[in-house]
Amino acid sequence: MTIDKQLPSTRTTELDSICLKAEVIPVITIERIEDAVPLARALVEGGLPVLEITLRTDCALEAIRRMREALPGASIGVGTVLTPAQYRQAEQIGADFVVTPGATEALYRYGVESSVPMLPGISTISELMTGWQYGYRRFKFFPAESSGGAKAIKSFGGPIPEARFCPTGGITVDNAEDYLKLPNVMCVGGSWLTPQALVEAEDWDGIRELARQAAERFHH
Ligand code: 3PG
Repeated sequence: MTIDKQLPSTRTTELDSICLKAEVIPVITIERIEDAVPLARALVEGGLPVLEITLRTDCALEAIRRMREALPGASIGVGTVLTPAQYRQAEQIGADFVVTPGATEALYRYGVESSVPMLPGISTISELMTGWQYGYRRFKFFPAESSGGAKAIKSFGGPIPEARFCPTGGITVDNAEDYLKLPNVMCVGGSWLTPQALVEAEDWDGIRELARQAAERFHH
């Protein structure tokens, strides 16, 4: 196991500069390919320029390709990356970053070599320590609300104060601030900005308004 190899500092810097653009990252699952661009555009126009698109549907990669072409100013991450093969697909379509729900040794190893930065998912201090040994300093905390919530992240700050987190999983407009006020939280993510009912109704104005409210309420 490679445990002493440091992640190049530029990678942490790169993640920081992406996360500095928005305190809230919409986590998006595209069911219908034709929704991809108008949905992403509504979120970006509303003031949220960093998006995570999950690989949970067959059209996900094509959706990301179209979003990147239509919205070159947005930072588009590929989420729900479970294997190095999926990480490679994310690299090939020009993802700005990769997000994983949990982290395997294979993903940690692949991410150290990749030019696309990874936000590995962790939910315990032991998983955090493994990532730390590989050189990672920025993590997704998932599933946040059922893994101890803001209190858990606050506790991680005791032994490993340099680590920073993007919690997702159960975050809403009502509890986001509990996380964002912690010094080791850089941003939060969630699907609450893209409610299924609004997406199905193609209510892009409604989604733009949700994004606008989130961007206004939570900003650096
Ligand atoms: C994720 O992958 O980050 C989650 O599915 C988002 O969680 P949420 O739907 O509870 O916001």
